[in-house]
Amino acid sequence: MRLPKRIKIVEVGPRDGLQNEAVVVPTEVKIELIDRLSATGLAAIEGASFVSPKWMPQMANSTEVIQGITQQPGVSYPVLVPNLQGLKAAIAAGADEVAVFGAASESFSRKNINCSIAVSFDRFGEVCTAARKQGLRVRGYVSCALGCPYEGQVEPETVAWVAGRMMELGCYEISLGDTIGVGTPIKARAMIDAVAKKVQIERLAVHFHDTYGQALANILAVMERGIAVIDSSVAGLGGCPYAPGASGNVASEDLLYMLKGLGIETGVDLQALVDAGQFISEFLKRPSGSRVANALACQLEGIKSCI
Ligand code: HMG
Ligand code: MG
Repeated sequence: MRLPKRIKIVEVGPRDGLQNEAVVVPTEVKIELIDRLSATGLAAIEGASFVSPKWMPQMANSTEVIQGITQQPGVSYPVLVPNLQGLKAAIAAGADEVAVFGAASESFSRKNINCSIAVSFDRFGEVCTAARKQGLRVRGYVSCALGCPYEGQVEPETVAWVAGRMMELGCYEISLGDTIGVGTPIKARAMIDAVAKKVQIERLAVHFHDTYGQALANILAVMERGIAVIDSSVAGLGGCPYAPGASGNVASEDLLYMLKGLGIETGVDLQALVDAGQFISEFLKRPSGSRVANALACQLEGIKSCI
């Protein structure tokens, strides 16, 4: 099995995770979570999104969050922006990187950002041009890369077309999202193979939700194709209100445990990550969604960590 020697983990819990909570998580809790994550060795932490507060009230405190965190050197803090209005707000708040988010499904695009895929390209183009003038990098997401909550099956060629177009518009990296966590390893690999015909594999990341418990298997399958950037969420937080039924992202702690077991470098400290997950799980008053965090917390005979 040929695997990358080093993996970059993009932590999305403070954004993808906390956007899905029933209540708005207070600013100071979000700030403490991000500051704790910043101390784990992670190189990228997605902390907020500058979207309509009517569409996503959970993210309404994004300006205060980005202004309140202590940005560590060497760590990037991307934020989501759907349009120029979001970009302006993100820049005013002091964001150092932004991400636009499209979809490989017409229905999901309309439900999530209220426009067609074609119109979304126009908006992303405007964002990329304006961001470049400010010296900001733009990451791109393609949702529904392995299935859509409204349309079901999504063809790998459609994912490749959207990803390729977003690269042409100026994104430096494309994160391919299994938004509803329905993928399985062979499908995930086929999707990557199709996209890699349009976008260099070094420019691709994966963002797998874990609804059907397949995320780690899918990640390993695509790492064999050379994918070396992986999104994950501390304590397995996450979901999207516009993707009904979807559960959290693959837990960062579980991803890190697997990568350590494979001897792959990440620069991230497992115990510090577990502690950050514990902090937010205690605030949310529910057990962590990370199997590794729960096993380490139990410390039962026979469930000792192997790393
Ligand atoms: P719209 O209603 O079509 O927008 O929404 P509009 O341009 O017609 O404006 C309507 C109102 O929204 C106006 O306010 C604008 O000012 C305001 P009003 O005059 O009514 O008071 N508005 C904004 N306010 C703040 N920030 C902005 C902004 N833009 C307009 N940037 C819009 C279009 C895109 C804004 C809306 O659909 C939206 O905000 N959608 C975001 C939905 C969202 O956040 N989804 C979750 C993130 S995606 C995800 O989770 C998937 C991912 O994790 C990958 C994966 O898992 O696959 C990334
Ligand atoms: Mg997501």
